[in-house]
Amino acid sequence: MDFFANRIDSICRPGLNEPRPGISDGWPDSAPRSVAGSSAGRRGKMIARSESAARMYHNGTKHSFQSVRSDLHYLDFPNQPMPFKVYGGIEPIPLPAEPPRATGNVFESISSAGEGAGENEPLSFEILARIFFLTAGITKCIEAGGRSHYFRAAACTGALYHIELYLICGDIPSGEGEGLPAGVYHLAAHDYAARPLRRGDFRASIAESLGRGEAPEAAFVFTSTYWRNSWKYRSRTYRHCFWDSGTMLAHFLAAVASYDLDVRLNAGFRDNEVNGLLGLDTRDEASLVVMELGERTPIQAGAGELAPLEFETEPLSASHVDYPAIREIHGASSLGSGDEVLEWRSNAEKFLNENLRAGPESGPESERSLGEKGFGKFPLAEGEPSGDSIDEVILRRGSARRFERFPIPFEDLSLILRSAARTVPADFLPGVRPALNEMFLIVNAVDGLPAGAYFFDRHRDTLVLLKEGDFRREAGVLGLEQELAADASVNVYFLCDLEKILGAFGDRGYRAAQLEAGVMGGKLYLGAYAQRLAASGLTFFDDEVVSFFEPRAQGKEVMFLVLLGRRKSLKSRS
Ligand SMILES: Cc1cc2nc3c(=O)[nH]c(=O)nc-3n(C[C@H](O)[C@H](O)[C@H](O)COP(=O)(O)O)c2cc1C
Repeated sequence: MDFFANRIDSICRPGLNEPRPGISDGWPDSAPRSVAGSSAGRRGKMIARSESAARMYHNGTKHSFQSVRSDLHYLDFPNQPMPFKVYGGIEPIPLPAEPPRATGNVFESISSAGEGAGENEPLSFEILARIFFLTAGITKCIEAGGRSHYFRAAACTGALYHIELYLICGDIPSGEGEGLPAGVYHLAAHDYAARPLRRGDFRASIAESLGRGEAPEAAFVFTSTYWRNSWKYRSRTYRHCFWDSGTMLAHFLAAVASYDLDVRLNAGFRDNEVNGLLGLDTRDEASLVVMELGERTPIQAGAGELAPLEFETEPLSASHVDYPAIREIHGASSLGSGDEVLEWRSNAEKFLNENLRAGPESGPESERSLGEKGFGKFPLAEGEPSGDSIDEVILRRGSARRFERFPIPFEDLSLILRSAARTVPADFLPGVRPALNEMFLIVNAVDGLPAGAYFFDRHRDTLVLLKEGDFRREAGVLGLEQELAADASVNVYFLCDLEKILGAFGDRGYRAAQLEAGVMGGKLYLGAYAQRLAASGLTFFDDEVVSFFEPRAQGKEVMFLVLLGRRKSLKSRS
């Protein structure tokens, strides 16, 4: 029986784009539950209890056709958490509004973060503020239903904006006014201000939590306040932690590259130390990523003891539902000691040597023979890149709510894919250009490319045709029955070999795999808007996506999905 034939009639109509009240977007059960007792989708049912915490979490939070119908979740709108973290009793320092102009064109910025030596121009307060704005700032406000809805620079599941940014820096000069004194700051989007949580230079603490002997000029920490997202998505929020910080990091990296600054992404750090430095409430908050920025210098003195922080923050909502599965997977993937952090990085080296430095993926026999005949391989084309700056592109970005059924040029798709596939300067991918995730595409409408399913061979910058045909119907079903996926010109799925990654890195590898997909997905978004096309992240039926791309995708798991195409204006709706 054709899976898709049964489901096509239920594809969402306009207005039903995202999982909505009455349709599940969480665990198979309606009650919050723990990882250990999870049931799962088709593949998940095969998994024994001895499987790793990450594997159980992943299987337990898969969407299946059955799970989204059997486990209904009604949104409690009067109890919706506010989308900002608001500290009380700390005098805010306004962030400077006028940044120095970033140089370089948008594709250079998207592609090149962390690749060059970096001129390492001195960091200024203005540059730090601009990087924050382009990553997490409020870029538009829409009045609807008697309320103001604030949208941010980067795409975020459900527009719930659960990711916060903190800054740890030495004295930072200003180009014009007063600089920013050394300290630990919360950066607030709602009033565009920095609030000092600790005064003085705490960069040695960050360096120690990273197991490094040198400290950067500044470090940004991305954190999640789970409840702001789990209100809607329940236990799936842990996936969203990395998806949503990933899209923000794509912006962050591009902004940093436009100022030609050195940057390093750290997914491995001592969790408790970083959480303690920021004073997070670890029942509902967690540090996800530490970004080192600017020149690094040896640490002179040890970090010393940290006093606990006890600042009040405004309540998010009247009540709070706990989803223990989130804390369980976070705890299981936490690193406690400096040795564990060093081991994390050495595992990365080992993993690369064993899996990724070997060169182009070999792929199954059928695919290799396609290559030998030269049939079914489509090397990326040269395109005309947008001349816009990263600032302009970020300011016009906004997820497409509808797509035109209209082809996009292969040259544009080529530019977008190529820039997304470039290096993410991460501790789990040291110094080379591989990736944990691979891109699989459903091409619905691209000029110069047959419609069909493809695999992107990033070593050869080539699209490999897996099967030719019109798969709009299947795309619409796989994208959680959202019409958006059927209409878009291209669906780009990120898949990885989760078993291998968890085998090499342990449970923390799960964070890296999701995060990397989020960053690459965020880069796809930016590339699309650079070329005046449109994009949207989308949710999906995990196991059905893998089946669709088999045999090439056999044994893999889906991490992320981005749609690319031409935006359909509301006026042109039929
Ligand atoms: C990882 C991810 C998944 C998303 N999934 C969906 C989805 O399933 N359906 C949908 O309509 N929009 C989806 N979106 C788009 C968000 O709803 C959108 O980013 C959010 O409303 C903020 O709006 P903006 O991107 O226009 O700023 C997703 C976005 C991201 C980043």
